[in-house]
Amino acid sequence: MGLIGLGNMGTAIAERLLEAGYPLLVTNRTRGKSAALEVRGAVVASTPRDLAGQVDVILTSLADDDALEAVAADVVASARPRSVLVDVSTVSPGVSARVGSLAGAAAVEYLRAPVSGNPAVVRAGNLTFIVSGAQETLERVEPVLRAIGPTVHHVGDGEQARIVKLAINSMIAGLAQLMAEALVLGESAGVSRAALLDVMGSSAAGAPFVKYKTEPLLRDDFSATFTTALMEKDIDLVLDAADEAGVALPIAREMKRHLRAAIEAGYADDDFIALFLHLRKASGLDEVAAPPASVSEQPEQEVVR
Ligand SMILES: NC(=O)c1ccc[n+]([C@@H]2O[C@H](COP(=O)([O-])OP(=O)(O)OC[C@H]3O[C@@H](n4cnc5c(N)ncnc54)[C@H](OP(=O)(O)O)[C@@H]3O)[C@@H](O)[C@H]2O)c1
Repeated sequence: MGLIGLGNMGTAIAERLLEAGYPLLVTNRTRGKSAALEVRGAVVASTPRDLAGQVDVILTSLADDDALEAVAADVVASARPRSVLVDVSTVSPGVSARVGSLAGAAAVEYLRAPVSGNPAVVRAGNLTFIVSGAQETLERVEPVLRAIGPTVHHVGDGEQARIVKLAINSMIAGLAQLMAEALVLGESAGVSRAALLDVMGSSAAGAPFVKYKTEPLLRDDFSATFTTALMEKDIDLVLDAADEAGVALPIAREMKRHLRAAIEAGYADDDFIALFLHLRKASGLDEVAAPPASVSEQPEQEVVR
């Protein structure tokens, strides 16, 4: 088993595979990110090409289209016939299809397997996979996916998983902005953040995402589990897919504007719930409020998307 890409998600996925007892070969563009995994038993390959020649299942968890396309070219150059490339990144259907062609030409099987969750969700064993590709290929690697997370949706045999993932992320981005607006409205009228989040969480609008973000918001913790920059990347992909399909997505288009403004204001590397900080500042409220006294009453949960 091999894993390429030891970012926030890749590292958490590697930990799950090691916990499940899989022998694991890893590699990452920037060296040094594998040190903690080596201590836990992972073996480090020097390059994606080196890794791909040694395993039958190759997982990739990479930032974007360019990263996947570059790494996939190296992988198929050395992968064994009938090995399986499983990409869990969020990328465009177009680049994914090109990777599919490359893989097919090298007799490498290919699954698109973008994920819904975040590093904390992975570590808690709750990651959801949205998979498209051949059913028989999924059957071959399903035990590996289930060792990482319990939910596997098979949504088609082509690029469908890419679209489903983008559609869900479009909803998450919109929800983050609406939470930000609700909190700014509440705070500007003297309602405490804790009280508003408490009611929000138990209301009809209290989606899992609201609950995941409650604790970090109460702690004023905007460290990234998913950066504002990566969410902008996803909304760009959503808008490209919408243009290609000839459909208008007015809220997604609006989210591009909000994410860009937050990035230009310096929140690119923060978690994308920093949309709230950005709106708070733009609204003239103090940038950071003291954590409310009722923090300890909230469940200990971490972020998300
Ligand atoms: N974080 C989440 O909550 C979450 C949830 C669902 C889906 N996703 C998706 O999962 C993917 C990974 O997300 P993440 O949060 O783990 O991102 P991340 O922490 O930024 O990690 C990105 C990974 O991609 C590698 N990379 C970037 N450009 C590269 C290139 N040109 N060539 C080779 N490697 C390259 C990085 O290597 P370096 O270490 O060298 O930079 C790193 O290993 C993204 O597509 C994201 O949209 C993330």
